[in-house]
Amino acid sequence: MKFIKLSHKWVSLLVMVQMFIWLGSGLYFNLMDHHKAGGHTYRAHHPVMTSDRSFIPLAQLPHSDPIKGVGVIYLLNEPYYRISSVEPLYPHWEGQYQLFHAVTGEPVSIDQDFAARLAMASYSGPGAVSSASKLSPPISDLPKERNPVWQVNFSDDVNTSVYLRQQSGQIVAHVDDHRRLRDLLFMLHFMDYANEGSFNNIQIIILAMLTLWLALTGFIWTVNLFREGQLSLRLSKGAHQVTVDIVDGQQQQNLILSTDATLYDSLWQQDVLLPSSCGGGGTCGQCRIKAHNGVQITSADKEQLTPEQLRQGWRLACQHKAKHFTRIMVPQLQQPLPRHTLKLRSERFLSPVIKELTFEPVGDTVPPYQAGAHLRFEIPQPNGGQGKTYRHYSLATYSEDPKLVFNVRHHPSPNETVPPGIGSDYLCQLKPGDKVHTLGPIEGFAIDPNHSGTKVLLGAGSGMAPLKAMIQSLLADADCPPVYFYYGARSEEDLLYWEEFIALQTKHAHFHYYPVLSQPSSDWTGEVGYVQEAMFTSRHKIERFNEAQFYLCGPQSMMQQTIKRLTAHGISSQAIFFDNFGEPLK
Ligand code: FES
Repeated sequence: MKFIKLSHKWVSLLVMVQMFIWLGSGLYFNLMDHHKAGGHTYRAHHPVMTSDRSFIPLAQLPHSDPIKGVGVIYLLNEPYYRISSVEPLYPHWEGQYQLFHAVTGEPVSIDQDFAARLAMASYSGPGAVSSASKLSPPISDLPKERNPVWQVNFSDDVNTSVYLRQQSGQIVAHVDDHRRLRDLLFMLHFMDYANEGSFNNIQIIILAMLTLWLALTGFIWTVNLFREGQLSLRLSKGAHQVTVDIVDGQQQQNLILSTDATLYDSLWQQDVLLPSSCGGGGTCGQCRIKAHNGVQITSADKEQLTPEQLRQGWRLACQHKAKHFTRIMVPQLQQPLPRHTLKLRSERFLSPVIKELTFEPVGDTVPPYQAGAHLRFEIPQPNGGQGKTYRHYSLATYSEDPKLVFNVRHHPSPNETVPPGIGSDYLCQLKPGDKVHTLGPIEGFAIDPNHSGTKVLLGAGSGMAPLKAMIQSLLADADCPPVYFYYGARSEEDLLYWEEFIALQTKHAHFHYYPVLSQPSSDWTGEVGYVQEAMFTSRHKIERFNEAQFYLCGPQSMMQQTIKRLTAHGISSQAIFFDNFGEPLK
């Protein structure tokens, strides 16, 4: 399936690029000036000539080859027999011609002077002949032509070249800059990249095959999404009954679960709390349940469960919709998480897209938690809709700090048809004094207390929150190991807590802060590029790099690349910790 998805993405990119080329060149063909695009900007047109002089009989011509065809043509107002000994099906195919003056019978050949005069006669522009040369196929301006030609060039504003056949003196074409542009766009439109003058080429055949592959892989992918329950036709909406045996049937409940939510979320809504440290992202493997009916296996199931467990019916509750189950066994429940009502104390934008929200508990205080923990927020449905959604946000503070601070990236809707991010939109609309309901704290992404060596923290965007909490908790310890913090942002205005980290660096000699900007202003003197690249480039500055632990939080691509390079450098996966906002790393 991985190959199907990967090839689908790359092939779609290729087909899309060619689609844009077709659109652009097709638009040009609709709008172009056909007279000019045909190379006729300075083409002279003469009336058809006839002569009342008597022509010499064919039998008297000094011609020895067998005659396959005879024609009378007029060159510079004089009549000529054009005798062919090889008569091609199309004029541009290779032929054998000889010219004889039709009145005197003298054989004639087209020399440079004659060619220039013939070209002049078919030219109406202001230019003069600048050069005339003999060309043999292939001829770049005339890809189909298979006969030798004269190319007569004119010095004018569109670089006209007049082509005429060396054997017969007949004009083949006028080619100028307008026509060259048209030919270039034809070449792109018909994918004739080898300039064969034909759309029946191997490139088009390959693209047709790739398009077929795109359709096939798209179909397979869609079917797979349906089979894994990640896609469904919402023909009906509502509830679904599931029998839940909690801990080997010792406690049994019949629950009505929401069909639209995952089994994990539906159970949470019924206060059946499965353990989790990834918030339903499919990466911790803790939310396992045993299904009594056959349920498809997802890729996350395969990563977190052994083949034997999968055979026995174990699945990750966060990776399946509740409606696929009729009866499940839950081996273990999480202690009910404390519920809290929080009141928004203050809010401010830290960057154009990231807002800092500071809450305080209403009533009971939040129990102690490790730096890196997150809270589960209840998000009401927009526009007063039924039910609730849940979103997880990491705390940018740790237990010693009475405030509860979060960094929320605001995802406004890009246009009217796309809804905004439901959780971030709700939270970013809150005003001081507004209350929210939460569960937690939930721990999982935390500093390893058994490792005393160097800590390298690497983040970007709103991945700042848990890392900031970790840095505060590490620096609060007098025996803190060296801490290196690499934070990536686009420009100076996207750097969060810059002054705060500079102050921490000044205060703590073992804390090293490296902000990295991908699109800095000209005044920026710090690291430039992508944060993971900057970390690897400056790894010689990191004390005992090979024995360090690495904590990552930010966009998936950044974390994927960092993990890949760290493992390639021989860093054990046991030394790499990441928080991926509840999404599985692909
Ligand atoms: S909650 Fe399902 S794998 Fe973590």
